[in-house]
Parts: sequence; structure tokens; C-alpha cells
Amino acid sequence: MARGWTTSLSCEGGDNSCLLVAGALYTLVMAKAKTHYLCRECGAVQSRWMGKCPDCGQWDALERYVEPKEKGSASHSGVAESWVAEICDSGETASTTGTTAIATPLTEIEAASVHRLASGIDELDRVLGGGFVPGSVVLLGGDPGIGKSTLLLQAAAKLARGDRKVLYVSSEESAYQTRLRAERLFEENEKTELPDELDHLYILADTSLGRIVEQARKVRPRLLVLDSIQMVYKADLDAAPGSVTQLRRCCTELVYLAKISGMAIVLVGHVTKDGQLAGPKMLEHLVDAVLSFEGDRHHAHRVVRGIKNRFGTTLEVGLFEMTGGGLVEVSDVGMLLDPEAPRQPGSVVCPVTQGTRSLLVEIQALTATGFLGSAKRRTSGLDPNRLAMLIAVLEQHGGLRLADQDVFASSVGGLKVTEPAADLALCLAIAGAHYRKHMPSGVAVLGEVGLGGEVRHVHKVEQRVREAVRLGYRRLVMSPAGAKTGVVDCQIIEAATVGQAMELLERGALPPGGTEGQLST
Ligand code: TYD
Ligand code: MG
Repeated sequence: MARGWTTSLSCEGGDNSCLLVAGALYTLVMAKAKTHYLCRECGAVQSRWMGKCPDCGQWDALERYVEPKEKGSASHSGVAESWVAEICDSGETASTTGTTAIATPLTEIEAASVHRLASGIDELDRVLGGGFVPGSVVLLGGDPGIGKSTLLLQAAAKLARGDRKVLYVSSEESAYQTRLRAERLFEENEKTELPDELDHLYILADTSLGRIVEQARKVRPRLLVLDSIQMVYKADLDAAPGSVTQLRRCCTELVYLAKISGMAIVLVGHVTKDGQLAGPKMLEHLVDAVLSFEGDRHHAHRVVRGIKNRFGTTLEVGLFEMTGGGLVEVSDVGMLLDPEAPRQPGSVVCPVTQGTRSLLVEIQALTATGFLGSAKRRTSGLDPNRLAMLIAVLEQHGGLRLADQDVFASSVGGLKVTEPAADLALCLAIAGAHYRKHMPSGVAVLGEVGLGGEVRHVHKVEQRVREAVRLGYRRLVMSPAGAKTGVVDCQIIEAATVGQAMELLERGALPPGGTEGQLST
């Protein structure tokens, strides 16, 4: 509209005052803040408010978002230009930023050597791909009380002890509360004094982004932890902390801060009750890595899982145990399972892989009388869709009648098992629960189950079997194809179909050599 005005005005006799007026009007119109509506769920931008987001179909999810007015080149008001110059002069700018002013052939771009900032907590570093990448932003999400603040404070302290400055910004707790937590975690020999090496760990209890950036400028940390992003606000925005407008602006500025200063930033994000990171997906798009801190609050075990990682794989998991003295790394994953425990009907052990490591998990199932047509299927730590599919396979190919049975299935210890390699174990757990029969001790089950009831080969068989054997499981039920992979030190029991595997369970017919292989009834 503003452009139309400029062209329709005619200037005569070299008098360009009207052009000046038009120009001023144009600037006025363009400078007016634009209002959009952002979807809280999917991050889609709409020009007008609607009751339902046309992109994701969520009701009442559109929130008003006022785009910031452009102020010349300094669009990031929170991160002053002088700040940029100062850091650039000091040579600390992240080489990872690597912007190029002109288009360059890929082969001619020099690979910057990235020196990762290893926290010293191996389980965390592995998930990150070797440590924090300078200039990157990591978002850590998880349920309240799962241990996010504890984990990050421990990582921050480890870095500080290695002579690296860390700024821990707590926007939810006071500095005193953080100190109390630190005393509990790091006090030495019952003294209430913290070790001197923690001098490099700076604590700031603030929620204003401007002041946080200012303090970061003064401290110049290698790592900035912001716990949590939902509580931080930018004063010049007319929106509440945690709203889409605030989250988007604060996160964008922090990403910018990380890129120009070369410091690594970790943001803590809340999750909604269905496990999604609160705020629209756009937060996940803005950052370089998204980690999820999972686990059952009623269990001590916690898992850090990569959901997105621009600098590494997302296959890795880090295992921790929450103790009275904070989070302790679990490097021997065998401790999640007690091989001596007496086997129960409906309990089957399965070697699963999580990233590069293999671990044994116990899959449990329970069937109970339900109502035909409204039987429940519930899972904990397993994929509910997979459970529904396997129940159908068991009905069609295993002869089980479960239509009027409620079926509950879980992976013990709070670990999430989503890989199909646990299909056969889940099938046998359901069948065992239904027929009240249990697997003999020392037997692990491995295999993907197809819709035709066939047991399929899974990848990394050798690694899984080795882990099972190491923990005392010397007999493995798996597909004939898996048996051909030449695994040693164990007895392989072949099962080509779910029906055959169930026969083993029903008859207790383990092949010769399995003297202890009698299944109790
Ligand atoms: P916290 O890190 O505050 O969780 P989040 O930041 O994810 O909300 O952890 C809180 C829980 O951890 C709390 O229930 C107590 C427990 N905890 C321990 O068991 N041991 C400890 O040493 C600490 C610091 C916390
Ligand atoms: Mg916390």
C-alpha cells in the first residue's frame, strides 16, 4: 500500500518535497510493528487469529506475536554491537560460525577445527557427540523434578574445575538455593565449604534477558547455562514470560549471542504433560541440539537422549542414576537387570541396542479380564502402536484370544524401548502372561516380528549376544537367519515364527543340552 502512495504522487518542476513526504510516510508504515499469530503447537505463522490452527488442527493454539521493529542493522538489541566488536577483537569468535560473504564451492570451504568443550561427564558428552560445540545452543527438556538442574550444575562444576569459566543462570531458583544444592552435591568431607576450584563457576539468579546478556559479557564464560528459557523475558516485549513471542525472541537472541561470542549455551526447557517440549516446535528448529532427559521419577535411573544434533548422532543415550549425592553415571548397563532374579510369567529378557551400546532389558506383560470391544492396551516405556500390532499377530498366528483381555506391557527400569528387535520378547511376555508360564532363567529373546507372524533378523546380533552372554544369559531365542551369524559361547534356539517361539514357551521344549530348560507350568 505504501508503495502505491509513492508512485501515485506526482512531483513537478524539480520540487522533490512531495517525494520526501511520501518517503517519510513509507518509512512510517513500514516501521509499524507487524502482528502475526503463531501456533503454540506447530509454530506455523498466520496473518489473522483463528480458533483452530489450519496447519496442525490444534484448537485455541494461536497466540499474538508482534514482530520487532527494525532498528537499522542492530536488529538484536539485547546483544549490543560493541559486544560483537569486543568479542571479535579478542579472537574468541566461534570458528564454527563460518559465514561466507560470497558463494563458495563446497570443496573449497576449509573445515574449521572444532574443539569441543567436554564436560567431563562421559555419559553426557557421548550424547552430545564429544562435548559442547563452541557457539552452539543445546536445548535440554524433561519432566519437572527429573534432574535437569542437577545434571547441568554437575556439568558446570566439572568444567569450572577444569579452569573453564561457566555462568549458571538460574531463573527459577535463587542464588542461595543454587548454593545449597551445590553444597549438597560438591561439599567435601562433610564440610559446608565448597572447593576452591569452583571459583570459575558463576551463579546468576535473574530472569531479564538484557541483564543476563550483560553479565555474560562481563564474565565471558565458555558455557552459559540458562535454567529455564520459559522464565526468561525481554523487557521491551509486551508478552508474558513463556509466551510464544517471548520464547521466540529470547531464543533467537541467545542463538545469536552464542554464534558471535563462541560460548556454548544450554537452555533448559519444560515439557508439557504429553512429553513434548513446551512452546512451539520452532524452539527445536532454532537450536543446534535437542536433548531429552527421561526416566521415571519413581525409579532412580535416568536417560539422556539426543532428539536432534547438528554435530553428532542422535542414536546415543547416556545413563545416570539419581542418588543422594546427585546423578551418578551408569557405565555398566548390566546393573539395570538382576540376572539372579526368579523369572515371573510374563517377563522376558531382551538385548536391545541404544546408540552404540547394547543393554539387556526386561520386558513385562500382564493380561487381565477386560470387556469385549473396549479392552485396554497400555504401555510404559514401549510403543503402544507396536503393542496393538503384536496383539493382532498373536491372535492371528499364535492362536491367542485377547479381544476381551486388557493387556499391559512395560520395560522395567524406566528405559524406553522402541526398536522392533524387542517384538518377539514382547510377544512371548504377553503369551507367557496369558498362559501363566515363564521362560527359564538364563534365556534371552531377540527378534522382530512381521505381520505374517514370521521372526525376522535384527541388526547388531553379535554385539547383543555378547552383552547377553557377559551377563550370564547363555541361551538365546532368535530367527534362523540370526543364528547363522556365527555367534559363539551360547546356545541358539531357532524360532522362524511366533508360533514356534510360543511352542518353546508352552512345551518347555528347549533343544538338547538345555537341562535347565524345563519351563514351569
Ligand atoms: P532437579 O535437578 O531440581 O530437577 P529439575 O531441574 O529437572 O526439575 O532434581 C530434583 C529431584 O532430584 C528432586 O526430586 C530431588 C532429587 N535429587 C536427589 O535425589 N539427589 C540430589 O543430590 C539432588 C540435588 C536432587
Ligand atoms: Mg530445575
